[in-house]
Amino acid sequence: MDEQEDYLSTEFKGIAAELWSHNAGWWQEGFTEGADPEYTEQLLPLVARLVGKAERILEVGTGEGQVLRQLSRTAPRGLLVGVDPTPEQLRLAAERAQGERYVRAEAGALPFRDACFDTVVACLVFEHVTDLEGALAEVARVLEAGGGFIFLLNHPLFQTPDSGWIDDQVLEEQYWRIGRYLEEKRTVEEVEKGVFIPFVHRPLSRYLNAARACGLVLEEMVEPAPPAGFLALAPEYYEARFVPRLLALHLRRS
Ligand SMILES: C[S@@+](CC[C@H](N)C(=O)[O-])C[C@H]1O[C@@H](n2cnc3c(N)ncnc32)[C@H](O)[C@@H]1O
Repeated sequence: MDEQEDYLSTEFKGIAAELWSHNAGWWQEGFTEGADPEYTEQLLPLVARLVGKAERILEVGTGEGQVLRQLSRTAPRGLLVGVDPTPEQLRLAAERAQGERYVRAEAGALPFRDACFDTVVACLVFEHVTDLEGALAEVARVLEAGGGFIFLLNHPLFQTPDSGWIDDQVLEEQYWRIGRYLEEKRTVEEVEKGVFIPFVHRPLSRYLNAARACGLVLEEMVEPAPPAGFLALAPEYYEARFVPRLLALHLRRS
């Protein structure tokens, strides 16, 4: 990283941290505890299936802990630990905890010894992480050989910045526009009125090649159609039902 890139990266990280703190309540109210059909109908069951009977699980970017709480109910587990850099998320996670433990840390500096987890989960987190290679190296370091990395992202191809449903009144066509997929870019997006969230867009090959360089190799890839409860929320969601919103990768530590 050159000096200017280093400076921009640090500045973006600072802004991102403030935005996550500021918007913690928005996330908690709109996306947790059954408020969001994509979580209840799709994300939580999918993570539970991919995690299976794993016993020592770390969740990176755990938010208010909904993924770990769900995992604590699906099988007996020896250890469930969640990390997140946002204090407002961790406070609520600790209040709602059902036996899981929560620690303040970010993806690029995990405060755990080598090979102490059999599974790491990251659910809609790495598209907010600036240093991809550093974070993946940390995931690989704390995973035991043969351990699984359950890696969920807003689909990096179809949900590129400036992608979306276009209802073209002139051409009388409707289609899904893809933004500048190949351009790696940090953005702050207004995801709904007055709510600004930091994103880092990267092409899918960046994720897979960086993971492979750390010894994390693809075992399964899932691109589910948006679930029924989500499609029911707006007519244009239904029109775009063949465009996946989610990408789930099950990677294995070689
Ligand atoms: C979209 S929320 C997802 C929360 C949780 N994984 C879930 O699915 O409910 C993204 C989370 O990533 C966290 N986050 C942002 N930057 C991070 C980083 N560099 N390392 C780890 N977590 C980060 C935020 O604080 C936020 O809680």
